[in-house]
Amino acid sequence: MTGKQAAILIVDDEEAIRRLLKRRLTGEGYHCQEAGSANRALNELQNNEIELVILDIKMPGKSGVQLLPEIRASYPDTMVIMATAITDTDIAIHCMKLGAYDYITKPFNLDEVVLSAGKALEKRRLELENRDYQQHLEEKVEEQAGRIREAFFNAITALAYALEAKDKYTSGHSQRVAEMSVAIAREVGLPQASINKIELAGQVHDIGKIGVRESVLNKSGKLSDGEFQHIKYHSELGEHILTPIVEDREILQMVRHHHERYDGSGYPDGLYGRQIPLGARILAVADSYDAMTSERSYRGAMSAETACAEIERGKNIQFDPEVADVFLRVSRLVGLVA
Ligand SMILES: [Fe+2]
Repeated sequence: MTGKQAAILIVDDEEAIRRLLKRRLTGEGYHCQEAGSANRALNELQNNEIELVILDIKMPGKSGVQLLPEIRASYPDTMVIMATAITDTDIAIHCMKLGAYDYITKPFNLDEVVLSAGKALEKRRLELENRDYQQHLEEKVEEQAGRIREAFFNAITALAYALEAKDKYTSGHSQRVAEMSVAIAREVGLPQASINKIELAGQVHDIGKIGVRESVLNKSGKLSDGEFQHIKYHSELGEHILTPIVEDREILQMVRHHHERYDGSGYPDGLYGRQIPLGARILAVADSYDAMTSERSYRGAMSAETACAEIERGKNIQFDPEVADVFLRVSRLVGLVA
């Protein structure tokens, strides 16, 4: 309720004054309530929605000056105008510092009272409107951010589908690599933000295979040197394909380097040891394990035990020994191997 329908509480120990103000303010279209003491005022505030209080400074018992902070604390959306004798303007100004909107002096100029009440209520209306707008704005921004996140994940999913349509051996592989990498990253104790990045990189690490010829991708025989070079290009191409939609450089680096080897003999950049981003070292272990335990066009699936033995053997050669150990521990924990 705002404007002329607003509820005003008139607090004054003198009935004649309350009546005078009530008559005029009611005539202006306001809905007026009265209280003859601070306690009655609190009672009225508790039981009614009051937009404005006209509060007498000097009252027997609890004064208006004492009541003001209580009103401000319990009813912060209620405006307060102090009513005071002309000799007490210093106190009135002190009250404004405590949060009163204005003060009016006795004997009242009723036109001024109406003007001050109108301004106080207008200020209240604007404040509430502004707060409401801010709240909606925050909701809108949050909603927008949600839509952007969704569009991003949809784009990633579309790319993953595109690759799966081309390479049936990839189906499910990326998801499993992502899940295994997350399990390793958790066991390593990485923060959640890093784990999220590793998960995403796992889902798209082979996206560059979209650019690899199907005859090479699905070849059952031994690859020629040229064909091997062609297939190796997928990690660089993956980074390139993802660059327009993935802003995060760490994710792009994980994709680019997921075929680096710990001893420096991997590709595309021949990084070694800790030069290789940790996320890429984690992906490498998960990727190799899943590749070994999946059926491929050129060989059958390896057992979990054999694949774990291969990971063990690859420590310091293909794999970061610490990451490999964490993987082997996790694989025992989740019951992949005894
Ligand atoms: Fe790969």
